[in-house]
Amino acid sequence: MGNKGVRNLFVFGSFLCFVVLVILTVNTFSQLDSRAPKITEEVDLGKQLWHKYDCIGCHTIFGNGSYFAPDMTKITEKVPKSYLKKFLVNPRKVNPSAAMPVLGITDDEADKLIAFLEWTSKVDTNGWPPKPVLGSKASGGGTGNVAYEKNNCSSCHIIDGVGGTSGPDITHVALRHPDPQWHRKHLDNPASITPDSAMPPYAQLSDDEKNQLIDFLLTLK
Ligand code: HEC
Ligand code: HEC
Repeated sequence: MGNKGVRNLFVFGSFLCFVVLVILTVNTFSQLDSRAPKITEEVDLGKQLWHKYDCIGCHTIFGNGSYFAPDMTKITEKVPKSYLKKFLVNPRKVNPSAAMPVLGITDDEADKLIAFLEWTSKVDTNGWPPKPVLGSKASGGGTGNVAYEKNNCSSCHIIDGVGGTSGPDITHVALRHPDPQWHRKHLDNPASITPDSAMPPYAQLSDDEKNQLIDFLLTLK
């Protein structure tokens, strides 16, 4: 190929790439509206409440967040909005043993949160997350204590550098709280010791399981 041939190849190649780029750009923009619905003011306010109440400290959304509670990305496809509203305002009224705390969400705030969750439900995520990892050991653990693993305590607590950060590091918790009765009371109802505690109550566990947890916690010195 002579100089001219190379030049023609270059010019033609560049032109072709440019045309492909334009076609793909137009194609992407024409699909944008159907991939994610419009963000209204209510959706935006709902997103702010999602942060205010630190929902992500317990839930995942789009695959990100904590593994303690169910993924919220497609929640309005799974349960009706009337249920969501009741649940958000007072989870314990819907399910007396709900592990989700009563966060003090007002009716109006619930509507905004639902608008946000309805928006995320409609976002085309290409099937992501493939399968939420609730209840897995993804957040760490490996303490060898069955009750601690089973109840996913490590989604909120760190022991020896492993676990989540929604609750305090409990590597040496027995030094702060050496009394088994303190732990029993705290497990049954964390808010009776720390008002507004974000830790869910574990009163529903069997005595065996509670004892197993308390014995374990008292070894953490
Ligand atoms: C302290 C942890 C925690 C926080 C914070 C939390 N949740 Fe939950 N949530 C849970 C748990 C655990 C469940 C599973 C049901 C149960 O046992 O309560 C749940 C369940 C739900 C459900 C019902 C899901 C279903 O399929 O029935 C919705 C909706 C929900 N949460 C939304 C939220 C929103 C929105 C926020 C923030 C405003 C939030 N949660 C904050 C722990 C939490
Ligand atoms: C959703 C997050 C969350 C989960 C799950 C959770 N905790 Fe907590 N935990 C907290 C928070 C927040 C605190 C601090 C407020 C308080 O003392 O109640 C706390 C405090 C504690 C404390 C006292 C720590 C200190 O230094 O005073 C202990 C002990 C404890 N948790 C044990 C457990 C055990 C055992 C489990 C599992 C059965 C568990 N937690 C599950 C959030 C959580």
